[in-house]
Amino acid sequence: MIKNKNLISKLSLEEKASLLSGKSTWETVNVDKVIPSMFLSDGPHGLRKQSGAADHLGLNASDLATCFPTAATLANSWDAEMITQVGHALGNEAKNLDVQVVLGPGLNIKRNPLGGRNFEYYSEDPYLSGKFGAAMIRGIQSTQTIASPKHFAANSQEYRRMASNSVIDERTLRELYTTNFEIAVKEGSPKVIMSAYNQINGTYANENAYLLEDVLRKEWHFDGFVVTDWGGDNNHVAGVANGSNLVMPTLGLNGTLELVDAVNSGELQEEVIDERVDELLSVILESTAVKKSPVEINWEKQHQIAHKAAEESIVLLKNNDDILPLKKDTKVALVGDFAETPRYQGAGSSLVNTKNLETITESIKNYQLNTVGFAQGYMRANKKTNEEQLRNEAIELVKKSDVAIVFLGLDEISESEGADRKHMRIPAAQERLLDELAKTAIPLVVVLSAGSVIETPWVNQVSALVHGYLGGEAGASAMLDVLTGRHNPSGKLAETYPVKYEDTPFADEFPAKKKDSFYKEGLFVGYRYYNTTNKKVRFPFGFGLSYTTFQYADLKVNQEQVSLTITNTGTTAGAEIVQLYVGKKDSLLVRPAKELKGFTKVYLEPGESRQVTMPFDDKTFRYYNAQAHSFEIEDGNYQLYLSGNIEDVRLSSEIHVSGKKVQNQANLFPKYFSHQISDITLADFSDLYGEKLSEDNNTGILKLEQNSTISDMAFAKSWLARLVSRYLSHALKKSESRGQPNLNILFIYNMPFRAISKMTNGAVSSQMVDGMLQIVNGKFWRGLIKLVQEFYINKKKIKNRTV
Ligand code: BGC
Repeated sequence: MIKNKNLISKLSLEEKASLLSGKSTWETVNVDKVIPSMFLSDGPHGLRKQSGAADHLGLNASDLATCFPTAATLANSWDAEMITQVGHALGNEAKNLDVQVVLGPGLNIKRNPLGGRNFEYYSEDPYLSGKFGAAMIRGIQSTQTIASPKHFAANSQEYRRMASNSVIDERTLRELYTTNFEIAVKEGSPKVIMSAYNQINGTYANENAYLLEDVLRKEWHFDGFVVTDWGGDNNHVAGVANGSNLVMPTLGLNGTLELVDAVNSGELQEEVIDERVDELLSVILESTAVKKSPVEINWEKQHQIAHKAAEESIVLLKNNDDILPLKKDTKVALVGDFAETPRYQGAGSSLVNTKNLETITESIKNYQLNTVGFAQGYMRANKKTNEEQLRNEAIELVKKSDVAIVFLGLDEISESEGADRKHMRIPAAQERLLDELAKTAIPLVVVLSAGSVIETPWVNQVSALVHGYLGGEAGASAMLDVLTGRHNPSGKLAETYPVKYEDTPFADEFPAKKKDSFYKEGLFVGYRYYNTTNKKVRFPFGFGLSYTTFQYADLKVNQEQVSLTITNTGTTAGAEIVQLYVGKKDSLLVRPAKELKGFTKVYLEPGESRQVTMPFDDKTFRYYNAQAHSFEIEDGNYQLYLSGNIEDVRLSSEIHVSGKKVQNQANLFPKYFSHQISDITLADFSDLYGEKLSEDNNTGILKLEQNSTISDMAFAKSWLARLVSRYLSHALKKSESRGQPNLNILFIYNMPFRAISKMTNGAVSSQMVDGMLQIVNGKFWRGLIKLVQEFYINKKKIKNRTV
């Protein structure tokens, strides 16, 4: 049913078509006096409103805003209510700056620890990602600002991010890569959703009728609009036909004409355009009708929310001999560049222009510690300059202290949108520093700043390890509160820390270098892999220490819920995160040993006990039946594990759940069934996927097409194209050595040719790109002539048609 029938009937076809692509980098098209324009801004952990020069890579400055901890950090709090408060604070800032849509939260599943945007995502687990996504959406939307969860779906690698095909079996797609969005949509009711850049099983996410129509709208009852990721449009007509409402940033007049021509030729029905416009308009009209009166922002209060969020998210990973909390007047040496110049957020579209950034070296003055000094210790980005001198200064300083607090982690170049990480270690200069400091025999407390999983082969050299992730603008005081015991840490990891990168499933196949990225591990992502295959890990999923201890007792189970009593058995007040995992030992299906199905965080004074309850929901026992294309329950007994982390089961019980008889998968998918995940071949995966899959083994010259990436020019026929490709690789390497990611070049490098026409406001037509491709493919003169001809055709088209 068309809601805005009256209004839509007054618009011409061209006007309607023009609404389905943006007006500028951040604004939607307006129609004089009838339809206002709506403003969209990043981002997931703080507003990035660009009032001046605009870009979608975080290159130009944005208005000042509060920088909250990134999603990877917030997830460690396991505190949905607190995340809602962050969302509320963020939404208020958006409202204050007249921004109608905040482009976040990011919900993608961390399929591999090297995923370049893991710092922007919550977890390797869909239940947790969905719950926190919903919490953030509720918070943002409680201010009448709209949230736009992203990137729907299965957007797991940065390499070729706009030209990668995520090949996933249907069950895994539904249980892992869409359950996160399902929870966010059903429990958060976002008004906008951003489609991903990539393809899913051969169809671009933005043209995927299965995802956008069948799943999102029909199954989940989503009633907002779908926006492309920036520059993510592939075929505008196909996008509109299959459920996408808005292309951003802007296709210019070309976008309008494509749709008009498609209607005139009968390829697209005008009614479909009306539906898309209606879905879009409903949100635009509602959001722009919100009273303009700017909310008064209390920056101090916003900062306190950022502080609280950072504090709740800090994870204590090791604490030998209770060295933490540090006693009053302890003589501490501060070592490591991050103490003075913090790493508190990631690079790219989520970059916030911080309002009030704290540093450890300044904030420590407010604590009763005896600071003997600060030593930089290492150069960022592994720069060799002065390395030895910096190390020696640090050693001398440490010798004067009782305890050295050493600030380590990933530097800017190690973690950014646009590039996957190359390895999982911290920069070598930091490891070398730690080796030397360990020789002083002064106890070392290491504080980590990193938005994603790292290897810690040096963990035995340190007395304590505290992970602050990327703590936002108030991360420093939050960390000092934990180090000094003003706050008892309660964060727990929302992702697994393997011993080494090679332990992750199909480690050497990530990121996929060719177009197809085969999700061969199926359901066995993160702890679903390590725990099921009994692989030793460094820190398990859900792990985190406290300055107190908790006892779990009195488990009661019925058909609706589990309840148990938690007691703080130590002498310090603190919070415990209780986790509910469900397994089915005698399952006839391929299944991970345990899956997270509930959690709760309970704060207790010393000696206090509290009963906590975790209700079951529609996700607790379900699995996705790929034959029936629906979620079902396997009949039988299930094990319930009440745990401190995935490996630390404190109480367990069993329950019978009525469901359906299922087909035994032991012989259908033997390796998956018996958890021989690392032996899985493409043929095994083809069985699971339901179609024979093959690798693209072409290594020679490639014939480049609209969807080939600019980096594919390395294999182009034209030497000129190969030269350009070499120049880009060189420029990338140069930026690496400078220590700052060059986001522009990264974007171009991974961008498909088609994006040239999608990102130039109509100045370059798709036919002009065909000309460029002919040049790249070795037909220089023919290509050049086409390019010039099409240039004039495009120019004329623009001149003759006005919308
Ligand atoms: C990112 C999105 C972001 C958009 C707008 C894209 O490059 O993938 O997450 O919201 O830019 O800045």
